[in-house]
Amino acid sequence: MVREWDPRIATAREITTLVATLNDCMAVDLPDDPPWRDALMREYLSVIMPGARKLSWIAEEHEGDITRGEPILGMASMLLLGDIGVVEIIVHPSARKQGLGRELLRTVVATAHAEGFTALGVEVPGKTDAVPFYESFGFVRAFTEIRSVLQLDKVDWFTLGEFASGVAAGYRLQFCPDAPPEDLIEAYASAKASVQDIDLGDLDLKPSSHEPDRLRASLATLHARGLRPYIVVAVHEPTGDVVGLTEVVVPAQHPSRADQYDTIVVPGHRGYGVGRAIKALMLFELRSHEPRLTEVQTWNAAINEPMIKVNQELGFIPDREWLEYEADVADLAARLGLR
Ligand SMILES: CC(C)(COP(=O)(O)OP(=O)(O)OC[C@H]1O[C@@H](n2cnc3c(N)ncnc32)[C@H](O)[C@@H]1OP(=O)(O)O)[C@@H](O)C(=O)NCCC(=O)NCCS
Repeated sequence: MVREWDPRIATAREITTLVATLNDCMAVDLPDDPPWRDALMREYLSVIMPGARKLSWIAEEHEGDITRGEPILGMASMLLLGDIGVVEIIVHPSARKQGLGRELLRTVVATAHAEGFTALGVEVPGKTDAVPFYESFGFVRAFTEIRSVLQLDKVDWFTLGEFASGVAAGYRLQFCPDAPPEDLIEAYASAKASVQDIDLGDLDLKPSSHEPDRLRASLATLHARGLRPYIVVAVHEPTGDVVGLTEVVVPAQHPSRADQYDTIVVPGHRGYGVGRAIKALMLFELRSHEPRLTEVQTWNAAINEPMIKVNQELGFIPDREWLEYEADVADLAARLGLR
């Protein structure tokens, strides 16, 4: 039985039940990843950027199981961004291969179709059941990333110290917990905008923030979701421009493993050790500010060899492929007998 479910008004017990289901899936699909903790999980599931919309559904054996704390069979969500719907579908390992994933996808597609969305996108960890699942419905692989993981207890801190201080003269590095300071926010947003056009071909499944107000909104959204941002910037001293930045978030939901987001070095300032230095300084700062942290994970386009090389020098080890798939809503609706 599939029904719409709204995490904003769910009871605390419902959220706990959902987390237990997610962790049963993690144990099968990504057994080396840390389990989810029920800390700010409601906010993680429901807070989104202004202007976006998110719908969620759950699958239960009997209606109300989630409220009684009985395990649920699956869940689906769709984040509506522009004209693309970003989908997530998870079926409990004990309920797989019985058509429930198909039923959840049918529900998602029916909504996307009724609301006039043209395409659906999904991010899928490589070597999991989700790959043959989405391919069987005609989803096409659009982009490949490599996830890499760095273990802090394996880091060579001496070499890292040399990287952090090995930046050419004329650059100043600044650590900014929570957000870039207001006097740098314009310069920070311009640095992001300057690389916006370097298109690696991905599907834009995450909201991006290339102007100051949008950037402030995106930082506020991260905080509200329990994702604490840390930033290191490189400022070009003669001009005051932000020419490099790196962003990491530490999620309340898995505080032992941080997520490394964007690292950008503005063209014209590449080749001076800026990228390596800002990432190295970030690791020192994380070590002192986040005592529970043991690992950092990051995703890079498979074709982004310079960044993968910097990451390997720091000690990141490639873990698995992370795939973006897309499909036309009209094709899916036809395939699922919805029109
Ligand atoms: C992907 C997933 C949702 C599929 O759910 P499901 O209920 O097992 O899927 P269905 O039974 O509806 O399968 C529909 C079709 O998908 C295909 N399929 C699904 N799983 C498959 C598998 N393991 N191997 C091959 N084909 C598969 C089949 O073609 C199937 O059709 P068929 O039954 O007629 O052969 C489920 O495996 C899952 O939750 N995976 C983990 C998702 C995830 O993101 N994990 C990472 C974070 S925890």
